[in-house]
Amino acid sequence: MIKMDTIYLGTNWKMHKTLAEAKAYTQELLDYVVRFPQFRFFVIPPYTDLWGIREMVKHKEILIGAQNMHYLDEGAHTGEISPRMLSEIGVDIIEIGHSERRQFYGETDFFINEKTRTALQYGFTPLVCIGEPMIEKEFDTSLAYLDRQIRIAMHGVTNEQAKKVWIAYEPVWAIGENGIPAEPEYVGVVHAHIRKTLGELFGKETAAMIPILFGGSVNEMNTLPYLEQEDVNGLFIGRAAWDAKSFLRIMKLIDGWKREQK
Ligand code: PGA
Repeated sequence: MIKMDTIYLGTNWKMHKTLAEAKAYTQELLDYVVRFPQFRFFVIPPYTDLWGIREMVKHKEILIGAQNMHYLDEGAHTGEISPRMLSEIGVDIIEIGHSERRQFYGETDFFINEKTRTALQYGFTPLVCIGEPMIEKEFDTSLAYLDRQIRIAMHGVTNEQAKKVWIAYEPVWAIGENGIPAEPEYVGVVHAHIRKTLGELFGKETAAMIPILFGGSVNEMNTLPYLEQEDVNGLFIGRAAWDAKSFLRIMKLIDGWKREQK
């Protein structure tokens, strides 16, 4: 399979950055991204930063995402945000099923499926996050575990809709301060398997169009080894991209590597 040309590069801020911090970061990022037109950039800030950032980013130089979304239009759901609200802001991406949402807020695959389908109905790009806990890796059941996550998340999604979905593979054990960075070869095997599963669901042609991003302790050291894997179309970065200059170093690395390949 020919590797997708576009490289997807984005960051989930989790519960970090006030509006003032978010604006300062975004200004820096806007200055950087124009140098790399071949990358598709996105940021996923906390809800309170979304309006402010939307006003700064006028032309989709950077896509903007929300970290979560309820699947209902409105209702008695204290603390939740609805698709109508996010649509009004003009959000591009909805991150769905990050492992912290699954682990700490009880999100099930079935709930994630409702959200994915709603996001698609609203015209958002669902960024569906999947990832196995360490125990699955130890028992050599990761692929089966991920298969189930994908099949449930994508249940009822049409072929046409599937072309709008992005997938992020983030092993639970690789994420955050205590994360163990995954071996690039392991990531390569998993991504190929995800592509295969998507192919079984939607056909090979559609599966080839779905970006599969890798995330979990991505940093300057492992950026290229991950991107060298055939089915890795981009990186979903946490800590290493929360400082715009550190994010810039990653962009430069990838840019240099791409130039060498030409
Ligand atoms: P990390 O976070 O890069 O800080 O490990 C990744 C994520 O949770 O998306």
